Amino acid sequence: MKRVYDGKKIITGLVLFLAAFTSPFWYNTVFGTFDYVPELKVEKNGKECVKRTSYMKTNHMVLLRFWRDEVVRSGKRIYKKEDGTEIEMSLSGTCLKCHKNKEEFCDRCHGYLGKAPRCWSCHNVPREAKK
Ligand code: HEC
Ligand code: HEC
Ligand code: HEC
Repeated sequence: MKRVYDGKKIITGLVLFLAAFTSPFWYNTVFGTFDYVPELKVEKNGKECVKRTSYMKTNHMVLLRFWRDEVVRSGKRIYKKEDGTEIEMSLSGTCLKCHKNKEEFCDRCHGYLGKAPRCWSCHNVPREAKK
């Protein structure tokens, strides 16, 4: 009997697809780092981030949440970096000043992960970061 679909192939394809698609979530656990990000054009300007890169890679959302709470709840706007430098706690004004190309930095990584943080309906993207 001729079958239109090859069930086995479809299942294998699905499994492979899911494995690849979800890899950012288990990759960490299996390989210990979060380096597996394809075609990420990391436009960084400057030498270092707000915190260590290893911290930023996995915890930038924690930092952003902390910044937001400080600004919104405590009215504090100045963040002291580990080296004592003071910077403004601002998503658009600070993060995107260095990471100018939001689309190819933040968005590309999030897009790949199927995550799109809903921040930009309120926070504006500086024109130069829009591309
Ligand atoms: C419904 C609108 C809205 C959304 C959505 C929103 N914010 Fe905000 N956010 C605000 C407002 C209003 C302030 C206070 C602005 C101020 O006082 O300068 C703020 C302040 C902040 C600040 C500190 C000041 C600044 O200008 O950056 C950070 C950091 C921040 N939000 C992060 C985020 C992140 C991250 C997301 C997405 C996960 C997000 N916000 C989504 C409205 C929003
Ligand atoms: C002074 C410029 C500067 C500012 C401000 C800055 N960054 Fe960075 N960021 C960098 C640089 C440079 C690197 C890469 C450092 C390296 O390669 O070791 C980086 C790395 C990162 C990474 C890791 C990327 C990777 O390689 O996987 C993330 C995520 C990130 N930044 C997010 C943010 C967020 C969110 C903010 C705002 C809270 C921010 N950055 C503010 C310069 C900056
Ligand atoms: C190296 C990849 C990578 C880069 C680059 C990156 N992010 Fe993320 N981002 C992630 C991951 C992974 C998560 C967590 C997803 C999860 O929690 O499931 C995340 C989550 C977030 C969240 C929390 C989302 C939520 O729904 O609460 C915010 C806000 C955020 N990122 C902002 C940024 C901003 C702003 C930039 C650019 C300055 C950026 N990210 C760059 C990988 C990245």
